[in-house]
Amino acid sequence: MDPDPTLTVSSQDDVYRPSEDSLLLLAGVRVEPGERFLELGTGNGFIALHAAKRRARVVATDVSPHAVQCARTNAIENRLPVAVVQCDLFRGLRGTFDVIAFNPPYLAEEIRGPWADRAWQGGPIGDDVILSFLREAREHVAPGGRIYVLIPGNRDRALALAESTYRVRIAAKKPLVFETLFVLELAPK
Ligand SMILES: C[S@@+](CC[C@H](N)C(=O)[O-])C[C@H]1O[C@@H](n2cnc3c(N)ncnc32)[C@H](O)[C@@H]1O
Repeated sequence: MDPDPTLTVSSQDDVYRPSEDSLLLLAGVRVEPGERFLELGTGNGFIALHAAKRRARVVATDVSPHAVQCARTNAIENRLPVAVVQCDLFRGLRGTFDVIAFNPPYLAEEIRGPWADRAWQGGPIGDDVILSFLREAREHVAPGGRIYVLIPGNRDRALALAESTYRVRIAAKKPLVFETLFVLELAPK
């Protein structure tokens, strides 16, 4: 998806502000009108709102109550139908989705502290949340569906798990100073 300048997406101090990784995931995601779209870890709703603007049927989640509130407000202000729910990864979500997208916390730091920090803390080597996501996502994607996840190129355990469980295509990538970010498009094997 291309960035849509007609969307007004505001944030607040304790909610992740869309950054380079958000734009990269947006660029890698393909979603068609009418498809059931799930975004995990929506933050202020930036990507979910783009999918809703494309007339996908959108559910957005976040573990942070502040992010959930912020994404709900942005959906209302843009008059877009996005169901925003608070949950940890797939806990409590029912049914399957044609497209699932996740820009996870991936920096190497223990997961603790305020919600704002947990937006980027991915555990001691930065792959805890990604690994859990990869183990669970295949159960929640519809037959023929697509999963998009952002992963830094040096998260070896996560890349190995992705390759052993899914057919993998690189949907987008961006070299940064210390690492290259990839958006992988996954389909269960
Ligand atoms: C890197 S931010 C991405 C935010 C937004 N999707 C974007 O691209 O700008 C990661 C988001 O995932 C959320 N998050 C962290 N752990 C989560 C979990 N276990 N389940 C759901 N959301 C989680 C954080 O609260 C944060 O909003």
